[in-house]
Amino acid sequence: MNEAMAKRESVRHFSGAPLQPEEISQIMWAAQGISRGRSARTVPSAGALYPLELYLAAGDGVYHYLPAENGLERTSGDNVLLSLSAAALGQAAVRKAPAVVIITAVYERIGRKYGARGNRYVEIEAGHAAQNVLLTAVSLGLGAVPIGAFQDARVQEVLGLPPDHRPLYLIPVGHPEKRRRCEVGKLRG
Ligand SMILES: Cc1cc2nc3c(=O)[nH]c(=O)nc-3n(C[C@H](O)[C@H](O)[C@H](O)COP(=O)(O)O)c2cc1C
Repeated sequence: MNEAMAKRESVRHFSGAPLQPEEISQIMWAAQGISRGRSARTVPSAGALYPLELYLAAGDGVYHYLPAENGLERTSGDNVLLSLSAAALGQAAVRKAPAVVIITAVYERIGRKYGARGNRYVEIEAGHAAQNVLLTAVSLGLGAVPIGAFQDARVQEVLGLPPDHRPLYLIPVGHPEKRRRCEVGKLRG
């Protein structure tokens, strides 16, 4: 865990290699999977109301994460990575990653109990889930970057999300591109 925290950094350049199903499974489980019994999750949740809904966009479609099965249900067979990148102000990491984890939230689930303060709880919880994704990526030898700069309505439209699933974070994940290093002396040459 310490090693993963020490190595974590935002990775925005990917090699193009695909993710293995086990890697995707591990990442989605870390973000929102069942950890104990029937309902306890890997991420804490105010009042155990679990407002987060996770999606995965990859080259072969869009998937909704089902915690009870640690499984993915395909909601679209389209490759939306290019449109998703456009919705994220053209950020290249979104279209170059083999997969993007999308954290969305149903605010109403928590608002019923906590009122306006529930909004804060939802967003704190999304941060817990995102950090688990980032650290799990590192522990699998992968890289990721949390992205908050995007147009909510366009992301919702591109992914075909239900109206109450509000996107909070896009997290492109992939194999880090091996960067070429130049020696400073040679550059000055
Ligand atoms: C709430 C939040 C939103 C962010 N949004 C973006 C983003 O839209 N695009 C991006 O490339 N990085 C984004 N980042 C990543 C930060 O730029 C990055 O964490 C910061 O520069 C520190 O670098 P490091 O993650 O390598 O330590 C975001 C980070 C956070 C916490």
